Amino acid sequence: MCGIVGYVGTEQATPILLEGLSRLEYRGYDSAGVAVYSRQQEALRVYKAKGRLRVLSDMLQGGAAADGTTGIGHTRWATHGAPSDVNSHPQVSHSGKIAVVHNGIIENYAELKEFLLSEGVPFTSETDTEVVAQLIAYFYEGEHLSLLEAVGRTLLRLEGAYALGILCADAPDKLIAVRKDSPLILGYGEGCSFLASDVTAILRYTREVGYMDDGEVAVLTRDGIACYNYLMQPIEKEIIHIDWEIDAAEKGGYEHFMFKEIMEQPEALRRCIFPRVRDGAVYFEDFHLSDDYICALKKICIIACGSSYHVGVVGKYHLERMTRIPVEVALASEFRYMDPIVDSSTLVVVISQSGETLDTMAALREAKRLGAHVLSIVNVVGSSIARESDQVLYTWAGPEIAVATTKGYSTQLAVVNLLGVYFARVLGTMTAQACVDLLEEMLLLPGKMEQVLAHPEDIQYWASQYFNHDSVFYIGRNVDYALGLEASLKLKEISYVHSEAYASGELKHGTISLVEDGTLVVALGTYGRLFEKAMSNVVEVKARGADVLALTTESRAAEMAKTATAVLTIPDTHELVLPSLGVVPMQLFAYYVALMRGCDIDKPRNLAKSVTVE
Ligand code: F6R
Repeated sequence: MCGIVGYVGTEQATPILLEGLSRLEYRGYDSAGVAVYSRQQEALRVYKAKGRLRVLSDMLQGGAAADGTTGIGHTRWATHGAPSDVNSHPQVSHSGKIAVVHNGIIENYAELKEFLLSEGVPFTSETDTEVVAQLIAYFYEGEHLSLLEAVGRTLLRLEGAYALGILCADAPDKLIAVRKDSPLILGYGEGCSFLASDVTAILRYTREVGYMDDGEVAVLTRDGIACYNYLMQPIEKEIIHIDWEIDAAEKGGYEHFMFKEIMEQPEALRRCIFPRVRDGAVYFEDFHLSDDYICALKKICIIACGSSYHVGVVGKYHLERMTRIPVEVALASEFRYMDPIVDSSTLVVVISQSGETLDTMAALREAKRLGAHVLSIVNVVGSSIARESDQVLYTWAGPEIAVATTKGYSTQLAVVNLLGVYFARVLGTMTAQACVDLLEEMLLLPGKMEQVLAHPEDIQYWASQYFNHDSVFYIGRNVDYALGLEASLKLKEISYVHSEAYASGELKHGTISLVEDGTLVVALGTYGRLFEKAMSNVVEVKARGADVLALTTESRAAEMAKTATAVLTIPDTHELVLPSLGVVPMQLFAYYVALMRGCDIDKPRNLAKSVTVE
């Protein structure tokens, strides 16, 4: 979703802003813009363009056309007002003195706009953000408050979620940053300072960052950053050193981030699993759920969105089997409004790759309000969800840039399994040997995944046979159904092919009427206990003319091949590790279908990497 970057220092700001924005492209956007203070013209210069960042960059000759050492930049994902040059950010006050970039939504913008219009303030855009720029100018120029006071007064009037970068023509050596419910980080450089919505935007220039908390305001100059709490009292910000390499956020010779990240999964899993498994037991770093607390638990409630929710669906099957504690899975966007039955005897497990998904964050807060302990499984270190949870388990997948998650999903799943083993040992619901057997297979998972990844051409071939289909059904039972949900989402989000996932047993209750000659059904039959049932469903849809692309384990491939049109295989493994391996051919299938259909794989239409609006 929208991206923010800001720079104040001694270098030319525009090339730095453009470079930073290019690192944020993966989040999804439809227009881009920058504002810099030009000393020659003693005024703000604003450049904005609908479409790809390339359009803006060409307009600015890569940055050479806009002179100035202080500036803010933005990639916009339209919410209020269509994507257009005029609705792009920065939004500027009618006096031309205040420029603002904004992520989030100002919920009471209509009311504020009405007030400003009644005061004779003219508006040019349809955005909620323009209200912020105009309101700051109203207090700063109209009521002659200092810039910081004008910002403070404005914040008192704003409702909603926002991360703001503010530049004023009268204070060209500073930037103001504000955060409420939308992430913003501060970067500490040598003789310069940065603000950004995502650390990748500034990693090339500094590795020393500070995470802003809700309600905080920061004043950035080339000499440093002063931070204030919501009462405008000065506060000390902890500076954190980011130690991952910038290469991790680059394509490294691959055509697409998604393919690179699919290929990175074995390594990501090694980082996630290996340090946590010793002598047949699981050890979590900095873990503070006591054995007494675990034994007293009445319920686990998993909350997440999208693919992370699909991890939760697998998690329900796995955790219930391992711990015998009832597990509910809820979509975060539903949970927050459903009057949930959650209290201090419920462990709420929040799953989020980005750690910034607004619905998930809101659900987390609701769960805490109801007295639950919140454990989050998060990839992005220091993200909002990680910081607001009582306990975090990081997935250590490294930066995930492609909008469609892959290594995020598989590492989340690994953490869920590790958590299951940890709880099962405390609860005595799995024998020591059963834990050892599962952990041994988890240690073998990266290697087995490498076997699957060694032959993407098999999957590419089947994608070439089916990429023209307009509709695909994924069917499976138990964890294969949960896997189908993720496989189907992967396909539809990047290839724009309509697809649905069904629990196979449900077919005869309605869906089978859609199956006719040539319908493509992807039958997931990895789960050994229900293999015979999976076979019957394949027979059922074949009899109605479907083409069946099946997925099963190597030991069952021959049996499956007797019925299915084609069979993809994964190595045999422990039942609780099957979805971790099974997802890989499904990710590759979706990738190749999207590739053959000429889709923009890393940035699918209408989607954003981090969904920071409701
Ligand atoms: C799909 C995908 C999304 C995310 C969802 C939640 O490939 O990536 O469905 O899983 O937006 O995002 P996080 O995990 O960042 O909370």
